[in-house]
Amino acid sequence: MTATVAQPKYEIKDIALAPKGKQRIEWAGREMPVLRQIQERFAKEKPLAGIRLIACCHVTTETAHLAIALRNAGADSLLIASNPLSTQDDVAASLVADYGIPVFAIKGEDNETYHRHVNIALDHKPNIIIDDGSDVTATLVKERQDQLPDIIGTTEETTTGIVRLLAMFNDGVLSFPAMNVNDAETKHFFDNRYGTGQSTLDGVIRATNVLLAGKTVVVAGYGWCGKGVAMRAKGLGANVIVTEVNPVRAIEATMDSFRVMPMSEAAPQGDLFVTVTGNKHVIRPEHFEVMKDGAMVCNSGHFDIEIDLKSLGATATEVREVRNFTQQYQLPSGKSIVVIGEGRLVNLAAAEGHPSAVMDMSFANQALACEYLVKNKGKLEPGMHSIPEDVDREIARLKLQAMGIQIDTLTSEQVEYMNSWTAGT
Ligand SMILES: NC(=O)c1ccc[n+]([C@@H]2O[C@H](COP(=O)([O-])OP(=O)(O)OC[C@H]3O[C@@H](n4cnc5c(N)ncnc54)[C@H](O)[C@@H]3O)[C@@H](O)[C@H]2O)c1
Repeated sequence: MTATVAQPKYEIKDIALAPKGKQRIEWAGREMPVLRQIQERFAKEKPLAGIRLIACCHVTTETAHLAIALRNAGADSLLIASNPLSTQDDVAASLVADYGIPVFAIKGEDNETYHRHVNIALDHKPNIIIDDGSDVTATLVKERQDQLPDIIGTTEETTTGIVRLLAMFNDGVLSFPAMNVNDAETKHFFDNRYGTGQSTLDGVIRATNVLLAGKTVVVAGYGWCGKGVAMRAKGLGANVIVTEVNPVRAIEATMDSFRVMPMSEAAPQGDLFVTVTGNKHVIRPEHFEVMKDGAMVCNSGHFDIEIDLKSLGATATEVREVRNFTQQYQLPSGKSIVVIGEGRLVNLAAAEGHPSAVMDMSFANQALACEYLVKNKGKLEPGMHSIPEDVDREIARLKLQAMGIQIDTLTSEQVEYMNSWTAGT
């Protein structure tokens, strides 16, 4: 193949995959009107000129558009994978060959390669880190303290990353500002709920081709992601059971019409289990023991520790691949358990991750958070910062505009009424 731009450094599966990747990146762009406007503005204004930036994200068609926005903004940037199984190799190839963006990501890379890529990214001496799960930031504060003076700030995409950043802050090791992209309304209302909801079941269906109508689907965790998975499973005709540890969320799930019970009770009933808790060992040996023969388990939370696969592997007499991304664990009891996507984010391992239309808003937040960090360099305290409300609202306004939807605006009488405490009776 012929490259159209100067070739940056890279470590990807196969540069020859670029044409397919370019075609898919362009297709995703059709559903990303907000990020497109940001790309165009950034190309004119160059708000990140002179900034060294590393992005640790799922290397997908949508991330490609974020990477293009950052390149247009003038950043000297580099992209690595935030998960060993989520890279789309054709996209990685196109970013290198067609857009001149350095990428270090290979689908299926082992943990050693994954961590080596994190260190290659840090060798880039970043001023800004875009993180998804906080692996890069955690490595920086643990192993690369000499680079801390270079850091302007970090932006974090996902719930689990925010939990880790808060823990770093509480431990006194987070010495720079961190933008909480996950908490922007235009992020988690849509990405976590509608994005994870649809793409998780897409992953399950692509991997197994099972009919969900009439099946019992157990969703562990009724947060933003869990609500989306439960809602979509119900829409496909499944009987949904929710497990929770938070009593408020358990009431919410009950009033949303789902059965709520502990995992020990749900385990013998489920045909498919989806964990989306951000926690550890939510499905454990005592649950596997009582599951139905052929029960399927998968995870859509950030890390691959929600299902205790080490214990399952230790008990199994045989593990064999029964379809792509689908392994059957044979148990001594004669029963088998089917694991989809090796317990890693199933929507990225077995499908293509979130649809572009939701990542449009998530990545608009990421891009604008980077611009905000640079504009406010030296002025922000170390620790977590919300995306400014006007940025959140502007992203929503641009999205609505692109969707061709208009809404009402407050009349001056309504503004006056809402600002007054004397009105009423
Ligand atoms: N698959 C994806 O593409 C994707 C997208 C966004 C977020 N995530 C990840 O999904 C996970 C959940 O994110 P969220 O935004 O829904 O978080 P959230 O905090 O809104 O919800 C998590 C829920 O899990 C519950 N929980 C915790 N431990 C539990 C246990 N042992 N059993 C049952 N419930 C338990 C919590 O009470 C909470 O209600 C995180 O790891 C996040 O990073 C994945």
